[in-house]
Amino acid sequence: MMHPAHFGLFNPSVAFPGILADQISAHFNPQLAVWSHAPAAVEIERHTIEAVGGLVGWSSGETSGHFTSGGAEANYSAVLMALTKANPAYAEAGAKAFAGTPCIYVSAESHLAWLKIAHQVGIGRSAVRLVPTDGTGRLDASALETLVSEDVSAGNVPVFVGATAGTTNAGMIDPLPECHAICRANNMWFHVDAAWGGAGLLNAEAAQHLSGIENADSITLDAHKWFAVPMGAGILLCRDQSLLAETFRVAASYMPESTDDGVDPYTHSLQWSRRFIGLKLFMSLACMGWDGYRHHIDHALQMAERLKSGLKENGWRLLNDSPLAVLCFIDDEGQAEPVRTAADVVNSGRAWLSSAKFEGQSVLRACITSHFTREEHIDILVDELNRSREVQCR
Ligand SMILES: Cc1ncc(COP(=O)(O)O)c(C=O)c1O
Repeated sequence: MMHPAHFGLFNPSVAFPGILADQISAHFNPQLAVWSHAPAAVEIERHTIEAVGGLVGWSSGETSGHFTSGGAEANYSAVLMALTKANPAYAEAGAKAFAGTPCIYVSAESHLAWLKIAHQVGIGRSAVRLVPTDGTGRLDASALETLVSEDVSAGNVPVFVGATAGTTNAGMIDPLPECHAICRANNMWFHVDAAWGGAGLLNAEAAQHLSGIENADSITLDAHKWFAVPMGAGILLCRDQSLLAETFRVAASYMPESTDDGVDPYTHSLQWSRRFIGLKLFMSLACMGWDGYRHHIDHALQMAERLKSGLKENGWRLLNDSPLAVLCFIDDEGQAEPVRTAADVVNSGRAWLSSAKFEGQSVLRACITSHFTREEHIDILVDELNRSREVQCR
């Protein structure tokens, strides 16, 4: 279990149904590569994916996608789909099918697995445009527009925008409607990386900030982050099942024949042999329902509010304005150096938090990751921060 005073990266305390589901999957060990070998498991995953589609406002008929090992695989799959759609020759010829370098656009505050993804899909790391942010941690839409038109003028081929809905450092949400409009105007794929922040859809206020996510061509969500199931459990949502089939198509004589009864996951996703990942979210939803999850997210947001007040009352200045449960802050007087302060808190053995860079500035970063976190754990963190500052002031 993640300690309730772990204000850390996104690995959560996990809820019991997901743990049990993982054990059931390990015990029965169904092979989800083909529908015919594990029809119940494949259908449970499909049903769960449709339920998650409902969360972002998609009907079951328009929701497609699958479980992944995590957010990076989901983002990778989205880029592959975008390239395949942008140029039907890409699947056979790779990046040289394009008349110029195919480019992808993400913010400078995005999760930098995008660089590895660009390498993997064969367009190269230099094809990633790290769009400047607006000073508040959100992608600057006018800078995006400028970069796209510069690339067009230079003979490059803009293909994909990955808007982040909940940045890793600071929980900031890129301007989704503006990114969508730029994608439509330039015939680009609109992806939303909501790996952590997508769970915010369960809170009415946070959901308003996520408005526009429903227009995405594809969305990444991680069940193993704010949905509190054991790793690894990511989700790729998309609308176009036939494009998944085109992107991941393959045939092998040793694999069972496809049937008309259901879709074979190995011909519609990156993985081949496939674990029953989706059972963890399915059983969690069966036990707690969306209402249980709503309560879980609301609680985390309440704890974040409590931490905000504790920090302000004690002379710490908040730098990010996120509707989600992560805070970036510094000492108001500049006396506590963030890296040293984080190390002091961790060394106290009473709480954990990290340091990070937000908009180029060194900050302390505290994220509510455990559903066991209560007021007393927030107070411990604030105490330890104050203690470190006192020592540094001596
Ligand atoms: C916004 C965002 N996208 C993608 C990822 C990568 O997810 P994973 O580690 O599950 O592959 C992360 C991980 O923290 C993230 O914060």
